[in-house]
Amino acid sequence: MAMQRSQIELEHELRDDWHVIADIESFAGSDRCRTRLFGVDLIATKTEEAMYEVTRQDTGKAIEWAARYGFLWASLGTPARDIVDIPEARESDRYLVTGGSIAVNVSGLRLVENFLDMGHFPFIHTDYLGVEPHTEVPPYKVEISADDEIWATDCSFFQPVASPTAKGGFMVDYIYRVIRAYTVSLYKSNPTQQDRMDSIYLFVQPVDEENCVAHPFLCYLKDGMDEATVRWFMQLIFAQDKPILENQFPKRLPLDPRAETPIRADASSVLYRRWLRSHKISYGAIAAAD
Ligand SMILES: [Fe+2]
Repeated sequence: MAMQRSQIELEHELRDDWHVIADIESFAGSDRCRTRLFGVDLIATKTEEAMYEVTRQDTGKAIEWAARYGFLWASLGTPARDIVDIPEARESDRYLVTGGSIAVNVSGLRLVENFLDMGHFPFIHTDYLGVEPHTEVPPYKVEISADDEIWATDCSFFQPVASPTAKGGFMVDYIYRVIRAYTVSLYKSNPTQQDRMDSIYLFVQPVDEENCVAHPFLCYLKDGMDEATVRWFMQLIFAQDKPILENQFPKRLPLDPRAETPIRADASSVLYRRWLRSHKISYGAIAAAD
């Protein structure tokens, strides 16, 4: 049984930050959307064009909101920093694609960890992001950057259909970046313009400790691509992950270094858990024993 925490216990780093609470597309045909953040029921109302009001159902109080990148964001506290900046979103030769929001019955931290894991590609995204016998995750570098993000670089993986425009399989270069506890991104070589990268940001909405909504945001080069295909591909890949994630046990992410046996390919995951421990993030986690 998951214990429900009071808001006093929610870490400042999470409370005083922005989180996606809805895809703006979810207001199509309606001016009201019910959603949930850190166990608090919220009602988001579209008051006029591009204007919203977000209120907590428990107290009836309005909370801070922002609309950016096609999402509605909110904070249960006072945001201590801005929404993650995405320079690619200002490049006019990219499609900016939302519409992949998917509810997953697992801790959002598990979702971030799964996003970092290349080892599951051949087994879960068979014939798309991986294929047997190409199951080896080549060694990569992973470190904490000067501004306290996790960067995994020099990642590569053999992919039969890395993206909708890929013709035949090739080794795809990846960079992963954990920007915040519930925000992660990846940059992968574009099959047409191999000197540029497509990017995928994953904003995870912590619904409660054992439920989340994945909100992917794709910044794909338009060259040789159409937007509907990008969206279809995103929805396909995330739908493949959902049942795997929902079968994970426990549903919260164990932070004890001895809880799960790491292998070399899990270097990102090991560092992510360590980073969460050092940030004292416990929402959605099972804390390490002292
Ligand atoms: Fe996956």
